[in-house]
Amino acid sequence: MLAVCSLTATLLLLLLSAGGVRQTDAFYIAGNAPQHYLLDDTVPVYWNKVYPAGERLNLPYPYADLPFVCHPAQWELPYMNLGRSMAGDQLVRSDIQIEMGRNETCKVLCRRQVTPDAVELALSLIRDQYMVEWFIDELPVSRPWVNMYDRNKQYGDGFPLGYYDPLMDSVFIYNHFILQILYEKSQTGSGQRLIVGVEIYPKSVENHGLMCPHDASIPGIHQQGLSADISGITYTYSVMWQEETSVSWGKRWDSYLSFNGDTFIHWLSIGNASVILALIALTVAAIAVRALSIPIPFRNSDDTSDQDDMSGWKQLHGDVFRAPENERLLAILVGSGLQVLCTIAGVLLLAALGILNPSFPGGLVSVGIFLYVFAGLLSGYTSARIYRTFGQEEWRRNAIQTAVLVPGGLYLLLVLLNFFNWAKGSATSISFGVFITLLTLWVCLMGPMVVAGAYVGERRPAFSHPVHTSAVRRTIPKPVWYMRSLPSVLLAGIIPFGTIFLQEYLLLQYMWGDRFYYFYGFLGASFLLLATVSVLVTLAMTYFQLCSEDYRWWWRSFFVGGSASIYIFAYTLLHCCIRLGISSPVSGFLYLVHALVASVVLGVALGSISFMVTYYAMRKVFKIVKVN
Ligand SMILES: *[C@@H]1O[C@H](CO)[C@@H](O)[C@H](O)[C@H]1NC(C)=O
Repeated sequence: MLAVCSLTATLLLLLLSAGGVRQTDAFYIAGNAPQHYLLDDTVPVYWNKVYPAGERLNLPYPYADLPFVCHPAQWELPYMNLGRSMAGDQLVRSDIQIEMGRNETCKVLCRRQVTPDAVELALSLIRDQYMVEWFIDELPVSRPWVNMYDRNKQYGDGFPLGYYDPLMDSVFIYNHFILQILYEKSQTGSGQRLIVGVEIYPKSVENHGLMCPHDASIPGIHQQGLSADISGITYTYSVMWQEETSVSWGKRWDSYLSFNGDTFIHWLSIGNASVILALIALTVAAIAVRALSIPIPFRNSDDTSDQDDMSGWKQLHGDVFRAPENERLLAILVGSGLQVLCTIAGVLLLAALGILNPSFPGGLVSVGIFLYVFAGLLSGYTSARIYRTFGQEEWRRNAIQTAVLVPGGLYLLLVLLNFFNWAKGSATSISFGVFITLLTLWVCLMGPMVVAGAYVGERRPAFSHPVHTSAVRRTIPKPVWYMRSLPSVLLAGIIPFGTIFLQEYLLLQYMWGDRFYYFYGFLGASFLLLATVSVLVTLAMTYFQLCSEDYRWWWRSFFVGGSASIYIFAYTLLHCCIRLGISSPVSGFLYLVHALVASVVLGVALGSISFMVTYYAMRKVFKIVKVN
């Protein structure tokens, strides 16, 4: 076990150093091939969505559907991968005409007639600090700013829809867009150009007709306010092409991803988690030394005075491997948990290596689904082996239940939640086609994977137990209050949660902002620390439980292992109450359900790995006890 610990620590350090080194230059692998343009080639502008970046829980909406912006003349929808559709992207090609290398001083996009209701909506969206997301050449169109840490130009995801001026107590909408597009001349001398940056400087300019403001940057020019008496909003744009020599195509995402401002808090989080890991590892090592009477140097080996009083647990050998209640459910949950764990670990690893990053939109979700489907093999295998160990025969039924229970539950939830999104016209509502694709993946690919895994698992020998289970069930003394199920699970969860809460804090910060989250090295390391600490805490708690002569460790180890997720969920709610306001019951409800599902799924994953390690340790320990 100590070998496992040190191995984990080494891996952790490797991952950490990779994460730390990469933080300075934000390594990533571009998600698409470079697109070469010749002079005067058309460069399409895609509109995606508006999303809230303020301190309020709200839903994103498709930009082109808003009743106060220009509708495209024809709805041209580009192809999107599965992950992108699921993340709620709804790209549509806009009527903004851009040609490579051709400056436009001012062009009219349209004048949109607005109803009072539309103005009302615009007012509320701007007050809630909604941001607009457009794409040009696969780059998010961003309003740049200079960050205070290293004075570098920084890009985010989009630009504000408008702004609220507290001095005048009125709301202005941005209706003139100055697009500054940075390009790089191709090295080959063929006259081809690559786009390396897309910046937008949105302005609010009062406009009553189909004319263009001469120069939107003139100070004192009237701004387009929003009030009930306006009848229309005119949208205009200018385009400026600027050659950029300091940024190459391969580095064009740097300004989006390399943000060093939060590095300190990340290191703090890792440091904090490492200290907790060290403490809990020492505790477990001390327990192991004492419980198994492992001879250690500098200790008088004749001194056994303090060992006998704690050896009551050894008498439980006739009961520890007695099958628990609901053993079938346990087998299914452990299998499904490992499946989730594999998926999370795989996604985090690929993201930490720079393969999954924001320049590959939808990549994280697509690859996650793909990994989840294939991890069905592991799920079926583990579930079948545990099932068999409990002396159960109907492995086919177990395999089907494993394939249905957790993945089916998640699918059903997705469908149900989508009704709410769909009713609110939110951008995150998922199309019917996506649901069919997911259903097909589940039934035709993941189902067979689980069954194949179960087939293999069923043919492998059951886990062998070193001691025989006695015919007579030992009575369990009434435990002290903190060793009862609920208190012990609640107490145990605090420790692993302590390793992750700073990361969770940052993650939630980024989720409600317009900056890209790109700290997967740190996140991966933190997840590894969380899983390790959960496992160690479970080992310690199982020992304490056995010491109080309670041998029902099967389910307990599963729950104790996943207990951190109770606090993770509570913290998400706390974040919502303290930092975010809730703008509608639907968005509050959706937030609650999403947080709950994510926490439960994470808990099942952590519980299953903790259970597996504890099970392994139990078999090893009782083998040693038997020999002695
Ligand atoms: C376009 O405008 C930019 C900025 O004013 C200028 O540097 C560039 O030379 C212009 N390009 C053309 C082709 O006029």
